[in-house]
Amino acid sequence: MACILITGGAGFIGTAVADELISKGHEVRLLDLLANKNNIEKSSVGSILDPYIISRVMRGCDYVIHLAAALGVKLTETRRLDCLYINVQGTVNVLEACVKEKVKKIIFASSSEIYGNQDSMPIKEVAPVNPISNYAITKLVGEEYLRAYSENYPLQYSVVRFFNVYGENQKDRFVITRFVRSVCENNPPIIYGDGKQVRSFCYVSDAAKGIVAALFNKNSVGQIFNIGNDLEPISVKDLAKKIILLSCKKDVSPQFVSMGDSDRTEEREVYNRIPSIEKAKRVLQYQPKVALDEGLRKFFKKFHKKSKKIIIRNS
Ligand SMILES: NC(=O)c1ccc[n+]([C@@H]2O[C@H](COP(=O)([O-])OP(=O)(O)OC[C@H]3O[C@@H](n4cnc5c(N)ncnc54)[C@H](O)[C@@H]3O)[C@@H](O)[C@H]2O)c1
Repeated sequence: MACILITGGAGFIGTAVADELISKGHEVRLLDLLANKNNIEKSSVGSILDPYIISRVMRGCDYVIHLAAALGVKLTETRRLDCLYINVQGTVNVLEACVKEKVKKIIFASSSEIYGNQDSMPIKEVAPVNPISNYAITKLVGEEYLRAYSENYPLQYSVVRFFNVYGENQKDRFVITRFVRSVCENNPPIIYGDGKQVRSFCYVSDAAKGIVAALFNKNSVGQIFNIGNDLEPISVKDLAKKIILLSCKKDVSPQFVSMGDSDRTEEREVYNRIPSIEKAKRVLQYQPKVALDEGLRKFFKKFHKKSKKIIIRNS
């Protein structure tokens, strides 16, 4: 069994990745600004901006999964320098430590944001990159650093580009969490713009399986993989309607507000985002399993536990 360090391991995806690795019998360590929820012993609370702490927690690890990042449109646009330091300098610090501590392979969590707006859907890994946000640029730079380090040092790598990962433990600023919370509280889900933006949502346990498959598959070295769920692309407007339907809240309907009121300006909106996951299916035998309705019901269960008031529709 291997020893794996997850940076950002106390976060939303990191927690699911840690669970997946532990269930397979691996030793897991975490480095995060936050304390972890999995009670993992050999973890450190600290920053990837601190080379000493990275080396200390990484010592003796075979692999690294690098998830720590500044993310969220509002945070990464209003605090651009923090985003630059954490996502670029932080990634270089992690790579330096990998070389120093003789780690065999690193996996980097990149993002579908690096594709920006594309002419054709679904988006394949070979599509030209077109980052239109500060965050997306830092992710692309991170990918390039991995490639360059692997050419200069004995460090293998794979990149996973996540497409709209969701789950009931996600932070409130993400669209599904916002919509479910609003509907559960009898408030209208707020849609910015016309709601025609299309997304393809991937439940977090599927995303975690994708990243673990990329770590251990021998044919994944030096490769980039889209990790998402291509089965049910949905417009933001239809997502809001679906959430209302599943919650049985007949009196609630979506409220449309100007894009100007959102985190993202119109120029920076990505209109269609549907992944091609053919490469991950072929090379990694990756297969997302959780359908959107099933994933959404898990949200309602969580909110239901809290409020005891919401009736969940089963079909
Ligand atoms: N959730 C998605 O849909 C999605 C999509 C594309 C890419 N990603 C990428 O996946 C990764 C994980 O995202 P997530 O959704 O779990 O977000 P998250 O915010 O829940 O997790 C990120 C973690 O990184 C930690 N972190 C931030 N700055 C740090 C620092 N300086 N040092 C150490 N830890 C630090 C945070 O405390 C947090 O726990 C990120 O790299 C993100 O860019 C996520």
